[in-house]
Amino acid sequence: MNLRNCYNFHDFRRLAKRQLPAPIFDYIDGGADDEATLRRNTQAFERCDLVPHVLRGDENIDLSVTVMGQKLALPVYCSPTALQRLFHYEGERAVAAAAAKYGTLFGVSSLGTVSLEELRKAHDTPQVYQFYFHKDRGLNRAMLQRAKEARVDIMMLTVDSITGGNRERDLRTGFSIPFRLTPAGMLQFAIKPTWGINYATHERFRLPQLDEHVDMSGGALSIGRYFTEMLDPTMNWDDVAEMVRQWNGHFCLKGIVSAADAKRAAEIGCTGIVVSNHGGRQLDGSRASFDQLAEIVDAVGDRIDVLMDGGVQRGTHVLKALSVGAKAVGLGRFYLFPLAAAGQAGVERALGLMRAELERDMKLMGCTAISQLSRDNLRFR
Ligand code: LAC
Repeated sequence: MNLRNCYNFHDFRRLAKRQLPAPIFDYIDGGADDEATLRRNTQAFERCDLVPHVLRGDENIDLSVTVMGQKLALPVYCSPTALQRLFHYEGERAVAAAAAKYGTLFGVSSLGTVSLEELRKAHDTPQVYQFYFHKDRGLNRAMLQRAKEARVDIMMLTVDSITGGNRERDLRTGFSIPFRLTPAGMLQFAIKPTWGINYATHERFRLPQLDEHVDMSGGALSIGRYFTEMLDPTMNWDDVAEMVRQWNGHFCLKGIVSAADAKRAAEIGCTGIVVSNHGGRQLDGSRASFDQLAEIVDAVGDRIDVLMDGGVQRGTHVLKALSVGAKAVGLGRFYLFPLAAAGQAGVERALGLMRAELERDMKLMGCTAISQLSRDNLRFR
């Protein structure tokens, strides 16, 4: 199997599994507890059917959308995800370049492995900065200021991670940053030498959004411990309202599941929210994003831009979410497996396949512009 044989999410996932040491693959692939939310995120799309219209064809399909003031050529974007240079040595550079090529938005994580300034300079496409709220308020202010100076377009605060999710796959392998592996985890690295050679022969692993402020060198600071020890579990609506005021630009909360919270986000001046359960990686049993989308669009869709992510593997999944009323749809594992499989070429192929699916599916639905999608096109089982 190689990149040219990859036609869908499952193909890329298989290829990534072949390349990556198992602890890293499981970190990307896994979810919290019994991984029920992880599974349901995708299953939710299957409980909804499309009702196409015929005999109103047109060759020209416009897939563009405008989200929080940014014009995107595609209604999908690359959600911010952590640690990308661990998955492939090209890391965020590959994902940003591929997103720019397809004219869509790219998210830089607080736990990113390339600096937001470098990525901002490299591409003109809109950029989201994903923010974690730390106990140290000075650190929060400094990070906000730094993102402002870098001319980040949208501030995206993750609100579903005040403590780490229970990811039992990671507990078993000992996945942590820097590595402190269990013997079984170590063996998995030994049997994937290509990954090891690439990792060892490229730029040293860093977390440039944080390393001025956080000492990641001493011992293993696992992702779970970062969440538990560094992030502020008491973060509340007043803290966020203050951040929104400080930022004074497009501000988005990622990880909203309740309609009441969505309303509150609108009240404190957010211009967008992402309906998300963090890819099933935080609270297992949390409702699937797609299942919860309609309620939230009905509550706030006329005031702020509602985005969603979770479980998206197909163009038809995207069209269903847009038909319910999402303004754009975030991709996570959808581009991470291609990144792990083949770097920039992998992400470009995945986004290219997604664009082709969206164009084809729009034609088959009898729609030429995203604005023509509506709930009339859907039936729920
Ligand atoms: C995760 C965090 C880092 O899901 O976003 O692993």
